[in-house]
Amino acid sequence: ATTIDITPERAQPQRAQPDSLDQCRRCELWRDATQAVPGIGPTKARIMLVGEQPGDQEDLQGLPFVGPAGAVLDRALAEAGVERGAVYLTNAVKHFKWELRGKRRLHKTPAQREVSACHVWLEQELAKVRPEVVVALGATALKSVLQDSGTTMGAVMDAPFQHQGRWVVAVYHPSFVLRARDEDSRRQAYEVIVAGLRAALRLLG
Ligand code: URA
Repeated sequence: ATTIDITPERAQPQRAQPDSLDQCRRCELWRDATQAVPGIGPTKARIMLVGEQPGDQEDLQGLPFVGPAGAVLDRALAEAGVERGAVYLTNAVKHFKWELRGKRRLHKTPAQREVSACHVWLEQELAKVRPEVVVALGATALKSVLQDSGTTMGAVMDAPFQHQGRWVVAVYHPSFVLRARDEDSRRQAYEVIVAGLRAALRLLG
């Protein structure tokens, strides 16, 4: 008689998706990126900052907010009295999306399907860190944090609000400061970020 070998190991179904961020194939962005960029910070951080996606420098170094936008963020954190090492820093999308212009890799805004595909990693970070306050830097971060592609910055930027048991503060993305057309707009956008970071601190009591 033939015996059918169904040892428990063999009977295990194959995982549909690999578990490690670096192996993530939930969307196509991994193809053109150097590496996935995970969040960084203490697992007990009380504040989590969520950006959009890694930029050119972040893609190369494997760390969030180490390029020009990171420099703006550093300045704003210092001015608000928030220590960078005390917060958890991450992005809504973990792979760099870009297009070549001349010799430069220029940032491209991720599509909603890419933000949604990547949301599982942000959820994992939120579950691990359990921050009391999430600061969404820009519209992509906000949509991912709320899991609502319809929310606009204008609707929520004025005041912190509660979402799923934690505070959310929405501010401009630091690169919005860099792109602003004149000094006045740059200063205003920057001040919104500083004010949001101060509000996040105040919420901790
Ligand atoms: N912009 C982001 O949103 N995140 C980074 O890590 C760098 C630039």
